[in-house]
Amino acid sequence: MNVLIMGAPGAGKGTQAAMIAGEFGIPHISTGDALRLAVDQGTAMGQLAKGYMERGELVPDDVMNGIVRERLGQDDCRGGFLLDGFPRTVPQAEALDGILAESGRKIDRVVYLDVDRELLLERVTGRRVCRSCGATYHVRFHPPAKPGVCDKCGGELYQRKDDSAETVRTRLEEYDKKTAPLLAYYRERGVLCRIDGAKPIAEVSEDIRRCLRGPAE
Ligand code: AP5
Ligand code: MG
Ligand code: ZN
Repeated sequence: MNVLIMGAPGAGKGTQAAMIAGEFGIPHISTGDALRLAVDQGTAMGQLAKGYMERGELVPDDVMNGIVRERLGQDDCRGGFLLDGFPRTVPQAEALDGILAESGRKIDRVVYLDVDRELLLERVTGRRVCRSCGATYHVRFHPPAKPGVCDKCGGELYQRKDDSAETVRTRLEEYDKKTAPLLAYYRERGVLCRIDGAKPIAEVSEDIRRCLRGPAE
């Protein structure tokens, strides 16, 4: 099964992707995580992406399309994959269709997590991420047993640089302008499932399971 998970910053893509990838046995491909790793490692791509990410702007399409083409060509994606945070523009969606068509593949389902603005801001500004394993927490909605320490691996929790209220505003504007039009793109293709992402984490997971096992909207 080839799946996309979509939604505004803070909608819960990463949180739910971990569940889907585990249960359905497919790799979780987060372009945001891939870029953050490249920035930390100081690769050429990381140096290029850093400024865009810190400002909350999208990284150029040709860079992103290259990353995804390379990743989807790897063996572990043959039995399906879950893309988180890509595509984010209509040209990226068209490029993705082209990449998949080359190997006779297509997108089977698009999970869209719908969450209103106020809640998104609260989620993003309260998020904490494990430096070692990448697990995601929230100071109010999903706190670790011990503040600042990962429940899963004992790693240190940190706040993403782009999670300041100021940068989140730019990220949300980018989403409205460039990414939201993709919902119509996938709805027309009959693969979109809109899910109420404001519910508690476990309930959202249950709704996603239902969408992936049954027909789209
Ligand atoms: P990326 O890392 O993808 O960031 P994003 O899209 O802004 O999304 P987030 O990761 O912030 O949110 P999420 O939906 O994963 O939410 P999460 O599960 O963590 O991209 C970062 C940057 O990289 C971009 O700005 C851009 O510069 C660049 N980039 C990446 N891909 C690109 C592309 N394709 N093209 C161009 N540029 C690209 O949850 C958020 C918080 O809420 C957590 O604290 C969590 O614990 C909590 N939470 C989650 N679900 C619930 C719930 N149901 N109830 C209560 N709390 C919840
Ligand atoms: Mg994420
Ligand atoms: Zn951890």
